[in-house]
Amino acid sequence: MTAPIIRQLAELRAKHSDWIRAGERVAVVPTMGALHAGHLSLVAAAKAACDRVIVTIFVNPKQFNNPEDLANYPRTEHDDAIKLAPHDVDVIYVPDPGQIYPGGFATNVSVAGVADQMEGACRPGHFDGVATVVAKLFLQTGAHQAFFGEKDYQQLLVVRRMARDLDIPIEVVGCPTVREASGLAMSSRNMRLSDEGTKKAGALHPILTALAARLSAGGVFADLKKQSEAEILAAGFEELEYLSLCSAEDLSAVELAQGPARLFVAAWIEGVRLIDNIAV
Ligand code: PAJ
Repeated sequence: MTAPIIRQLAELRAKHSDWIRAGERVAVVPTMGALHAGHLSLVAAAKAACDRVIVTIFVNPKQFNNPEDLANYPRTEHDDAIKLAPHDVDVIYVPDPGQIYPGGFATNVSVAGVADQMEGACRPGHFDGVATVVAKLFLQTGAHQAFFGEKDYQQLLVVRRMARDLDIPIEVVGCPTVREASGLAMSSRNMRLSDEGTKKAGALHPILTALAARLSAGGVFADLKKQSEAEILAAGFEELEYLSLCSAEDLSAVELAQGPARLFVAAWIEGVRLIDNIAV
């Protein structure tokens, strides 16, 4: 059965009160819609952990640093509701824009540290937009747990930091990246690639995996980086924005994978910007 779509905060709060009165645990899965198997894996994790699941769909203008990217972002509410039906979620919260950004909205949630490098450096204002909307969604849903994908690992750390710093009583749970058979991380942006582009993009994950293996064997990142960068470009990517090795805990740059570390990449193919990361 398709879940009810709620567009007003007051209506969401009424449902939430009933659940809390009944002693139920509530999960939230924030999304921007255009749902794929990656999103649905978060929904499954939320279902397994909590009594009630709220999926939010809101294409958040504040986190797009590029107006064209915002205009091109797929909006597929009807299909999304159909995809969610078998997962038996309790509410799909699709807030009317005024429920998130009422007239005169003047507050900005800005996280430093983990938000500064990589996506934060390449997309100015992006993480302020993410932290602001996610803080609102946490407060509006009053959820006990929130589910985020490691696909956007830096976002996961930014959101976790924000909730801790603002004393929002929610546990931020990270879930593994869901990939196509080729290894390509699922993303709503993949829809914009041609068949040829999709095939080429499939080379990214094996290149990262091979680099991770060399790092695990004691390799120094600075010595190995150039070769992997050349491989990414040779595979058909037009531009590489960054290839970084960072601490998995605070995202500081590291040269040797001694503690928990991750490799991060952002690269352009057919005018589409793809990001990925893997544990080392
Ligand atoms: P969106 O890109 O729709 O992603 C929603 C959630 O799905 C995020 O937690 C993201 O990491 C996760 N996700 C995306 N692709 C995935 C994959 N292949 N495997 C596992 N999880 C995946 O991220 C956002 O929206 C927004 O920034 C949001 C947090 C909703 C704030 O507006």
